[in-house]
Amino acid sequence: MTHSSDSPIGVFDSGIGGLTVAAALRRRLPGEDIIYLGDTARVPYGTKSARAVNRYALECALFLLGKQVKLVVVACNTASAVALPGLKGLLRVPLIGMVDPGVASALSASVRQHIGIIGTPSTINSGAYQSRLRELSSTARVWGQACPLLVPLAEEGRLDGQIVQLILEEYLRPLKRHRIDALILGCTHYPLFKPVIASLLGEGVALVDSAEAAADEVEAVLLREGLLRTHGSGSIDCYVTDIPRRFGQLGRRFFGASLGKVNRTDLGYEA
Ligand code: DGL
Repeated sequence: MTHSSDSPIGVFDSGIGGLTVAAALRRRLPGEDIIYLGDTARVPYGTKSARAVNRYALECALFLLGKQVKLVVVACNTASAVALPGLKGLLRVPLIGMVDPGVASALSASVRQHIGIIGTPSTINSGAYQSRLRELSSTARVWGQACPLLVPLAEEGRLDGQIVQLILEEYLRPLKRHRIDALILGCTHYPLFKPVIASLLGEGVALVDSAEAAADEVEAVLLREGLLRTHGSGSIDCYVTDIPRRFGQLGRRFFGASLGKVNRTDLGYEA
């Protein structure tokens, strides 16, 4: 199958959070059609083993390839940190993850190269962000902090208030002590907490939103491959592996616009 600029972009995440990446893509590339897959039956990935996340990511990517996408965005930081290297050898379309774009913007935003990264336990334990940062900058000092409570809070719509403030204070305290000057928001859900994080860390710390950085990279790759769609206004077509209704209701908050009809899929694995 050959792709053209009119082919859609495939985006997948463990659930709803990757819609923050889809929203960044929509803003940056308004002409592109997006096919979004949320693996809501198996979310969260952030507490699962590498073996499980590798298998889930492969199944999601294959589903999108079946929709003739021209590029796949792994819009889940956990899947990017754990499964991207393995996926890269298997797919014939360009594959964009969240780690490299986030790392590149953190390195350019940080003056002292004291960089913090927050993410799910699986992302932080994989060491993917930490090793990439050290690989690209010999002077970088890097501190990771897993923030397991933030995904459930975001899913419940608790984005500010006393509880959120206390939890974030606790998570960010060690990073503040290291006097970081850039913080990678290394999880799809964390951009939603940007205002609280910014107020706790103050002006001297740049907040790196991997979603925006990934959208920049998608644009660059499509341009390079001659696959950028510059005309028309793009659509978004959503698929989930469990209960479409909740996804549709919550999805608005993450995407910033209505999602239309949300379809259910078994990824082609149902008996
Ligand atoms: N999408 C995941 C990530 O960005 C967060 C939710 C999950 O744990 O699956 O790491």
